Amino acid sequence: MMPALPTLDALDTTVHVVLAAHDAPEVSAALPSLRAVLSAQENVREQRYRMPGDRERFVVGRGLARHLLGQALALSPSAVAFALEPHGRPTLASGHRRDLGFTVSHTPGLVAVAISATRELGIDVEDTARVITQDIPNRFFAPDEVRELHAQPPDRQVSVFFDFWTLKEAYIKARGLGLSIPLDQFSFHLDPHQPPVLTLDPRQPDTAAHWQFFLASPTARHRLALAVRGHRVKTQSLRLWWFGVPPA
Ligand SMILES: CC(C)(COP(=O)(O)OP(=O)(O)OC[C@H]1O[C@@H](n2cnc3c(N)ncnc32)[C@H](O)[C@@H]1OP(=O)(O)O)[C@@H](O)C(=O)NCCC(=O)NCCS
Repeated sequence: MMPALPTLDALDTTVHVVLAAHDAPEVSAALPSLRAVLSAQENVREQRYRMPGDRERFVVGRGLARHLLGQALALSPSAVAFALEPHGRPTLASGHRRDLGFTVSHTPGLVAVAISATRELGIDVEDTARVITQDIPNRFFAPDEVRELHAQPPDRQVSVFFDFWTLKEAYIKARGLGLSIPLDQFSFHLDPHQPPVLTLDPRQPDTAAHWQFFLASPTARHRLALAVRGHRVKTQSLRLWWFGVPPA
């Protein structure tokens, strides 16, 4: 049976983030009911993943997204239809309400789905236990971010690295353009007491002040960043929910 999901009222001012530890026993037990709401095309996609963990994460992400969107649209989860944008972002198909946004991210041990009344919404979760090689910041971060990272004390380096990484992923996902946005044409500045601040290169056709960013550590091992465009949604109204029991 599906565990209870949040009621999706006040979506105009709230971002709901539903988290699931895909390898936890109660989430594994819910896999058949999550898989049952997927489309034939999604079933084919699941089969293409060679690693069992990738398959599970895909089913949990799509299944949860369908359940949440179904609640918000008063439809059964399997009646929710998706379209694919040119850069790969899945969105609601044109027959549905167009002001509802959702975003999905998976990493070993965690799946996150966010939903709100803005289409420009991006989430990223990362497993901070993954190996980071020395060259990654220079390859993927903006020069200001590399400088800020290297100025951190040694015990803060890993944490700040994942702050930058998840924020950058969340922003490019919220724009729906993926890696077609050059990663050195925008940068974040971190202050432990303030929300992250975005700076855009003039070549980027976007306005930094329109965005809000949020960072969280949903488990001891995972980092999460969320990017939301628009003034209607207040990030202080962010709601984190666990599907199943949160990992210890
Ligand atoms: C595809 C990409 C949008 C995210 O990839 P990712 O971090 O590996 O994977 P995540 O699990 O966080 O996100 C995947 C989900 O994002 C969504 N997605 C795919 N393309 C998207 C796009 N262009 N815009 C927004 N969302 C997208 C999908 O829902 C997908 O899950 P699903 O297919 O199971 O539904 C893209 O940013 C990418 O390829 N990143 C590679 C990593 C990298 O080099 N990052 C450098 C950042 S510093």
